[in-house]
Amino acid sequence: MEIKTIGILTSGGDAPGMNAAIRSVTRSAIFSGFKVKGIYRGYRGLIDDEVADFKTQNVSNIIQQGGTILKTARCKEFTTEEGRKRAFEVMRKHEIDALVVVGGDGSLTGARQFASEFDVPIVGLPGTIDNDLYGTDHTIGYDTALNTIMWCVDRIRDTASSHERLFFIEVMGRNAGFLALNGAIASGAEAAIIPEISTEVDQLAELIQNGFRKSKNSSIVLVAESPVTGGAMGLAERVRNEYPQYDTRVTILGHLQRGGSPTAQDRILASRMGAAAVDALLEGQRNIMIGDRNDEIVYVPFNKAIKNDKPIDRELLKTLKRLSI
Ligand code: F6P
Repeated sequence: MEIKTIGILTSGGDAPGMNAAIRSVTRSAIFSGFKVKGIYRGYRGLIDDEVADFKTQNVSNIIQQGGTILKTARCKEFTTEEGRKRAFEVMRKHEIDALVVVGGDGSLTGARQFASEFDVPIVGLPGTIDNDLYGTDHTIGYDTALNTIMWCVDRIRDTASSHERLFFIEVMGRNAGFLALNGAIASGAEAAIIPEISTEVDQLAELIQNGFRKSKNSSIVLVAESPVTGGAMGLAERVRNEYPQYDTRVTILGHLQRGGSPTAQDRILASRMGAAAVDALLEGQRNIMIGDRNDEIVYVPFNKAIKNDKPIDRELLKTLKRLSI
């Protein structure tokens, strides 16, 4: 089937760089002779028929903006057969032949299901601050979130140091520890408590027993939000009970981490990936996610990207340990 019109939507949690991706897909597609339709509010908008023609002007002046001009949603109805059928009808009505979906794990899972039921070529772009998609070194939004975390921790450090306190700073990441681990290295934190190794060791006990205060009186520990780690609140509670000698405080960074103008790295990644999505459709590819591996664009089948857990780099843990003496 010849593709004439490409629809683009953003889905799941917003991530800085999604706008740069929308801009890149739109302009690359128009450059190659396709028509583009912007679909508002993710799969929700596909079901509710919130579709607009996108020209090159629709994506002017957005590369520097966080969030997504297309809006986003987590759509329950799209998980039903009825919802997906309706979405397909709306696609047909607007003569949308192929879709580019920008989102995280849940959004690509929806795309894979949709593609297995209807004859729709779909290309996914990894858009999530969590960096938890297998097959890509980076996701769009991750670098900006990391920089925001670093900025916040730099400020909290002033208080930690002045009051000689132990701070637990909780960061996002859903079930993955990428933001916590790399955030800790970037901000010079003493440790990161992450779900990937929570079942292997008692990270808190190890940290305290290793005499994490041999050479300093204040400390910062980044905690990944997953329930597996106990969260920053849970860990602080443990310290109050088990090690009452420490003056402990908690900061939960929350949605601060999702907003803001994307970094150069995220803008470039989103621009490259958006162009690659259009190239992939031109080549007849379907049901793949665009990834970057060793700075090269790769195609990752949905099944791989979603099914596999992306491993953390254990060398980073060692580095963090070495640098916190
Ligand atoms: O997937 C991005 C993310 O920010 C996760 O890190 C976090 O667990 C979740 O979304 C929060 O979702 P919501 O904004 O719907 O509360």
